[in-house]
Amino acid sequence: MATSSRFILCSLLLCWVSSQTLATISVQPKALVIPVTKDSSTLQYTTQIKQRTPLVIIKLTIDVGGNFEWVDCGSGYVSSSYRPVPCDSAICKASGSGACETECLAPPGPGCYNNTCSHIPDNPFGSTGIGGGEMASDTTVIQSTDGRTVGKAVVVPGVVFTCGTTSLLEGLSTVALGMAGLGRSEVSLPVQFASAFKFPKKFAMCLSSSSSSKGVIFFGDGPYVFLPNVEVSKSLMYTPLILNPVSTAGAYFEGNPSTDYFINLTSIKINGKAVPLNVALLNITDGNGGTKISTVNPYTVMETSIFKAFVKVFRHEAKNLTKVSSVKPFKYCFSSKYTPSTRVGPAVPLIDLVMHSSSVYWRIFGANSMVQVKEDVICLGFVDGGSNPRTSIVIGGYQLEDNLVQIDLEKARLGFSSSLLFKQTTCSNFNFTSSA
Ligand SMILES: *[C@@H]1O[C@H](CO)[C@@H](O)[C@H](O)[C@H]1NC(C)=O
Ligand SMILES: *[C@@H]1O[C@H](CO)[C@@H](O)[C@H](O)[C@H]1NC(C)=O
Ligand SMILES: *[C@@H]1O[C@H](CO)[C@@H](O)[C@H](O)[C@H]1NC(C)=O
Ligand SMILES: *[C@@H]1O[C@H](CO)[C@@H](O)[C@H](O)[C@H]1NC(C)=O
Ligand SMILES: *[C@@H]1O[C@H](CO)[C@@H](O)[C@H](O)[C@H]1NC(C)=O
Repeated sequence: MATSSRFILCSLLLCWVSSQTLATISVQPKALVIPVTKDSSTLQYTTQIKQRTPLVIIKLTIDVGGNFEWVDCGSGYVSSSYRPVPCDSAICKASGSGACETECLAPPGPGCYNNTCSHIPDNPFGSTGIGGGEMASDTTVIQSTDGRTVGKAVVVPGVVFTCGTTSLLEGLSTVALGMAGLGRSEVSLPVQFASAFKFPKKFAMCLSSSSSSKGVIFFGDGPYVFLPNVEVSKSLMYTPLILNPVSTAGAYFEGNPSTDYFINLTSIKINGKAVPLNVALLNITDGNGGTKISTVNPYTVMETSIFKAFVKVFRHEAKNLTKVSSVKPFKYCFSSKYTPSTRVGPAVPLIDLVMHSSSVYWRIFGANSMVQVKEDVICLGFVDGGSNPRTSIVIGGYQLEDNLVQIDLEKARLGFSSSLLFKQTTCSNFNFTSSA
């Protein structure tokens, strides 16, 4: 901002000089990009960013519905740009924090300062108890993009995150030092990046189906281009985001809404036939029920009655497939020997997730519905979530892979592309070769 006022005040000649000298430090990107890798042992999706002074590369597990970024501050966090977030600050209030750490008794350092805003870092993979963590900000460096290739790295000065303890890392991919929360909050990474560079509060996530090739998350608006020159942002279908008024995190301050992305799924069709469902389960009542997307669940999870009805219709429609014994965590597996394969995976019944209007549906093809568990065996990649889950349908990672999902926080809507395989590309086809 100091830069733009200098521009207005200076003479033409000086402007030219200062734009030359400032070019490297005042890049105003239209969008940012991070790589996403699927961890083959935990099935978590991880990314890496650079943080601190001096810069350190840190890997984080992605939680698309997570409130904020959290990082282990308990082992070897060293940074001269670390700043605790004061309790009386606007950002502390906006974060929904309900606690202030007035006095930290351990020696001062990252994670332990007096009068610091306190929050609750959540690790949905872990079994460790909950605990508070100090909110702080630190320098983060991330690549810019024009939507086609990777541009210059840019500095985001004070990115707010929460300090976790080393024990909170339990259950995360061994490379991860914390989690990247992209959720519906005032302090999630997409919102902070958008306000740092005044670009739209939107991001798009495209998860790769392979652990050996990278998917991508774009922060900001499109274009979102995949090789060979497939622009996806203009061909999305949209459905409104629904606010769940009650937090769905493992632990939270009372009164905070959920930061998960809920959508208005109204029916499921298989080969055009509606799955008979108790529609009350699709409604959010006192924070329970409804449908959300998740990068924490590797496969879509459905409440028992929905799961049973879903499988029944699927099996009826797939009666020409040869059933074989089940392979955990799946219940319905088939021989793939005689199942023809297509560009969009095995030729199996089509699953449509119908949204707020019958003309808006997310079509799931074989590549996203069937999981190859061994040679010649494919399983229906959906799991039973029990009879009383918090959320009735959680659309998991496998069903999101090779689909681009855009979250538009300004218009409160979710855009989806359906399978990119149809467009003859995949989520691993973003050109990460830097031109900068
Ligand atoms: C925190 O407060 C305690 C008690 O007032 C004080 O002893 C300690 O020095 C303070 N620590 C810092 C880092 O200011
Ligand atoms: C869904 O919730 C709304 C508001 O809570 C309620 O009016 C409606 O009857 C519910 N629908 C079903 C099918 O339960
Ligand atoms: C099963 O039926 C579907 C839909 O009619 C068809 O596309 C597929 O080729 C058939 N599969 C087998 C194994 O016959
Ligand atoms: C979901 O969509 C249905 C059908 O358009 C509509 O009646 C309902 O109000 C929507 N629910 C919410 C919570 O927006
Ligand atoms: C990827 O981007 C780089 C840098 O802009 C460019 O040189 C290269 O040709 C691109 N690769 C393909 C396959 O288009």
